[in-house]
Amino acid sequence: MSKAIQMHENGGPDVMKLEDVEVGDPGPGQVKVKQTAIGLNFIDIYTRSGLYPTPMPNAVGREAAGVILAVGPKVKDFKKGEHVAYCGVLGAYAEERVMGVEQLVKVPKGVSDEQAAAIMLKGMTTEYLVDRCAKPWLKEGDTVLFHAAAGGVGLLFGQWAKARGYKVIGTTSSPEKAALAKKNGYKWVIDYTKDNVVEKVKEITKGKGVPVVFDGVGKDTWNASLDCLSPRGLLVSFGNASGPVPPQSLAILNTKGSLYVTRPSLNAYNATREELEKSAKSLFKMVKSGKVKIAIDQKYPLGDAPQAHTDLEGRKTTGQTILVP
Ligand SMILES: NC(=O)c1ccc[n+]([C@@H]2O[C@H](COP(=O)([O-])OP(=O)(O)OC[C@H]3O[C@@H](n4cnc5c(N)ncnc54)[C@H](OP(=O)(O)O)[C@@H]3O)[C@@H](O)[C@H]2O)c1
Repeated sequence: MSKAIQMHENGGPDVMKLEDVEVGDPGPGQVKVKQTAIGLNFIDIYTRSGLYPTPMPNAVGREAAGVILAVGPKVKDFKKGEHVAYCGVLGAYAEERVMGVEQLVKVPKGVSDEQAAAIMLKGMTTEYLVDRCAKPWLKEGDTVLFHAAAGGVGLLFGQWAKARGYKVIGTTSSPEKAALAKKNGYKWVIDYTKDNVVEKVKEITKGKGVPVVFDGVGKDTWNASLDCLSPRGLLVSFGNASGPVPPQSLAILNTKGSLYVTRPSLNAYNATREELEKSAKSLFKMVKSGKVKIAIDQKYPLGDAPQAHTDLEGRKTTGQTILVP
């Protein structure tokens, strides 16, 4: 018997229960993994609440790292005892699991399981946001805007974008979070609880606005994000921390300056094994080079997943959070 967080209905944090589960042996193309660290992501809140419907009972958690305990038939590239990590496979809130190897990557030397579990999803998201999704809109030295700068994706984004030669404006909700963002690559940080974000962005950019806004907050920041863009700029709307953006009229993109909007997902950017391997390689290279530093800001025992969700939803966390089985 092993323990895992199970869900039998959608709802608040308390619908997640630590229960005994039978894990079994790996079948063809599968491995059994003893998980040592599990990543916490805002998407876990969407799947728990039901905003993104998922099958029960392994309905929450999609990122972890650990050690391979057993290898099933027809698995060529992974061996017992290897440290591996993954994201994008539901049911990650577990001590042990049997899973296919499609999304698995090896954790390289110099990167700990805890770091890998914390950054697979948020780090590969940062990789595609900066290096692929917004690339055609950007040249070295450009200034961009990122909302929730002290969050999990936020702290990685600030460092990554700076390493690529962009100047980054961040937004956040407290002086402590602003100080943390500044240590993680942001040149300017706007406290949106005190200052008007559009006015500040216009002030910093001498009235021009920015070519790209990265917005994982959604509903509450939509209008301001469009107003911060320069003509023909791109809004990358990649999340809904404050709720989904309501339906919009396309005409708004015309009146605000021939703007572009994309609503990207990591799944679509790492849709093939080749894309996944390239993205993970780029992420680990950034970490090993020291250009992107990974701190684990919060750790919770697996059974305290409800508290971890309450804190993430309540804006009490910063940076990276893991659950420890
Ligand atoms: N599309 C993709 O491929 C993809 C992949 C990964 C993540 N994401 C998205 O990226 C965003 C960040 O994810 P994360 O896991 O790193 O979370 P996070 O940024 O650590 O946490 C969310 C942050 O959003 C801010 N926020 C603003 N309004 C909020 C509200 N009403 N409720 C809660 N938080 C609010 C808070 O920061 P302040 O206190 O500073 O406001 C909070 O700390 C999420 O929207 C997530 O869904 C998208």
